[in-house]
Amino acid sequence: MSRSPLIAPSLLSADFARLAEESQRVADADWLHFDVMDAHFVPNLTFGLPVMQAVRAVSPVPLDCHLMIEAPERWAPGYAEAGARNVTVHAEACEGDPRAVARDLRAAGSLAGLALKPGTPLEEYLDVLPVFDTLLVMTVEPGFGGQRFLAETLPKVRRARELVDTGHLTLLVEVDGGINTDTIEQAAAAGADVFVAGSAVYGADDPARAIAGLRAQAAAARQG
Ligand code: DX5
Ligand code: ZN
Repeated sequence: MSRSPLIAPSLLSADFARLAEESQRVADADWLHFDVMDAHFVPNLTFGLPVMQAVRAVSPVPLDCHLMIEAPERWAPGYAEAGARNVTVHAEACEGDPRAVARDLRAAGSLAGLALKPGTPLEEYLDVLPVFDTLLVMTVEPGFGGQRFLAETLPKVRRARELVDTGHLTLLVEVDGGINTDTIEQAAAAGADVFVAGSAVYGADDPARAIAGLRAQAAAARQG
C-alpha cells in the first residue's frame, strides 16, 4: 500500500478575514483541514456549513472537515453533500451507532472519518471502524490550536497502524494537534498517514515551504 504522507493545514490558524487567500497559500497541501466547533462538544466556536461552502468554492485543495460538534448524525452529511473530501465525526459525540453516519457520508460522496479524543480507547470502536475510511487520533484535547502535542497518544497511532498493516482495517490514520517540525517524526514513525498542522503551517513565514518540510520529515521518518 502506498504510504506517501498527506499534509493537511488547518484553517483554524489562518486569517479568518481572508479565507480565500489563505486556502490559496496552501495550494500544494493534500487536504485543507476545516475545524467545525459548536461551543458544546468543545468550549470553542468556529465556523459551520455556510463558511465551508464558501471556502469549498474557492479552495484549490480538497476539504477535510473535522466536526467537533454534538449530534453529528444530523449535520455531517451536509458537509459531504457540499463536496468535502473527508468528513470526520467524533465517536464520543455520536448518539447512535457511528456506522450509520459512515453510511450516510459515503452515500453523500465523501470519505467517512471517526475521531477519538486522547482519552478515548481505540479498542471500544474496533467493530465500527471497518466501515470508516479515516481514523483521526487527536494528539491534543480538541478545541484550540497551538497546544502541546501529547506523546501519550502515540500507542493508539501504533495500534491503528498495526491493524491496517495486518489487514484488519482499511483506513488512513490521521493525527491532529501539536504537529510541527519537532513532533511530526514521532507521529510518522508511529504510523500516521495524514498530518494536520495549523500553527506550524499558517504561523510560518512561507506556508508552502513549511508544508514541503513537514512532508519530507514525515516521509523520512516513516522509512526509517
Ligand atoms: C484542535 C483542532 C486542530 C487544530 C490544530 O481542536 O482540531 O485541527 O487546528 O492546530 P495546531 O496544529 O496548531 O495544534
Ligand atoms: Zn482538527
